[in-house]
Amino acid sequence: MSSTGISDEDILLAQRIISAASRHDTEALKILLKSGGSANVRDDTRTTPLHAAIAAGTKENEKKVVDTVGLLLQHGAIWNDTDKRDETPGCIALRLGLQEVYSQMVEAGVRAELLFNALGSIERDMEDVEYDEEDDDVELDNSSYLNSTLRYRKDILLDSSNNAVMMSWETEIMTRHAETLLPKPGLRAMNVGHGMGIVDGQIQLRGPAEHHIIEAHPQVLQRLRETGWYDKPNVTIWEGRWQDMVPKMVEKGVVLDAIYYDTFAEDYAAYKAFVEEGVIPLLDNDGKFGWYNGLGADRQICYDIYTKVAEMDLYEFGFDTTWEDIPVPAGLHGSAEWEGTVRPYWTIDVYRLPINTFIK
Ligand SMILES: C[S@@+](CC[C@H](N)C(=O)[O-])C[C@H]1O[C@@H](n2cnc3c(N)ncnc32)[C@H](O)[C@@H]1O
Repeated sequence: MSSTGISDEDILLAQRIISAASRHDTEALKILLKSGGSANVRDDTRTTPLHAAIAAGTKENEKKVVDTVGLLLQHGAIWNDTDKRDETPGCIALRLGLQEVYSQMVEAGVRAELLFNALGSIERDMEDVEYDEEDDDVELDNSSYLNSTLRYRKDILLDSSNNAVMMSWETEIMTRHAETLLPKPGLRAMNVGHGMGIVDGQIQLRGPAEHHIIEAHPQVLQRLRETGWYDKPNVTIWEGRWQDMVPKMVEKGVVLDAIYYDTFAEDYAAYKAFVEEGVIPLLDNDGKFGWYNGLGADRQICYDIYTKVAEMDLYEFGFDTTWEDIPVPAGLHGSAEWEGTVRPYWTIDVYRLPINTFIK
């Protein structure tokens, strides 16, 4: 027995499983997994059998990798463990250009996330959500964020934990969202989350008949005042959280042709709640819904998984989704734009812009 309490037999079994995975020896793996071995063992570099199987993959032996990965997933292998290089198994597949294996890992991630979200909603229904009170990053909790102090700088809006709330490099993305949602003047539009006002500026340029803005942070509201938004004739500012404002709009009978959603410090469950409570009741039959697609944007596989999960959830809610790919500005990664922020929230190359319409 080692000092960590793990027996020598356990260590040997883990080594044999990882070795069989890296040789793509599915027959040996079946025997090892049947005789009590786990598909989630790790060696001292935090390599799991999935990492090992994929890292030993090439374009020539990809079929064998697919079989090995399939077997490990059937035995409960976890899709998103990271090794000492901070790579998930899917990250390795992407780096090695193993497209079929990468798709297999994305599918595994989608299944796991759908299950996780379903369990999450059961928990929320039971009012059993636990917050980690130790963590003081205001990005993790919407009400902490809304009570925090913001700093507007030239090209960036920062929260009190130095998370970038919004950055000006996203202007092209915001412009395209406004263009896709408002293809002609005279439409009734709503934006949730003013931030730096980039998307609202673009909506204004497209001559909306109505322009509703929901914003909850007192400093952003102050900014809206200072920059003249309250004086624009077709603009209505709803001061408060969308959770409180949307029911008031529904009560007033507001109907919209275009809705855009881009808040901060809200999780995927909040986004789904907005679709259900905000988009479905407020959007006209032929209207369009767009949303900031940034979940998981610091890791390609997470982004691909959440893009799929969102599309599936939106379909369940009765929406078709079309996607438009927008490359992020060249030179963004590692650039000085991120100076002063805790971490870059965007490390991938392409923004996938969603446009949702009711299924006809
Ligand atoms: C990422 S910024 C939006 C950036 C904006 N799209 C732009 O073009 O500049 C997010 C905004 O959502 C606001 N916000 C966060 N939670 C909110 C909530 N629950 N209800 C309404 N606004 C919220 C934040 O204060 C912030 O102004």
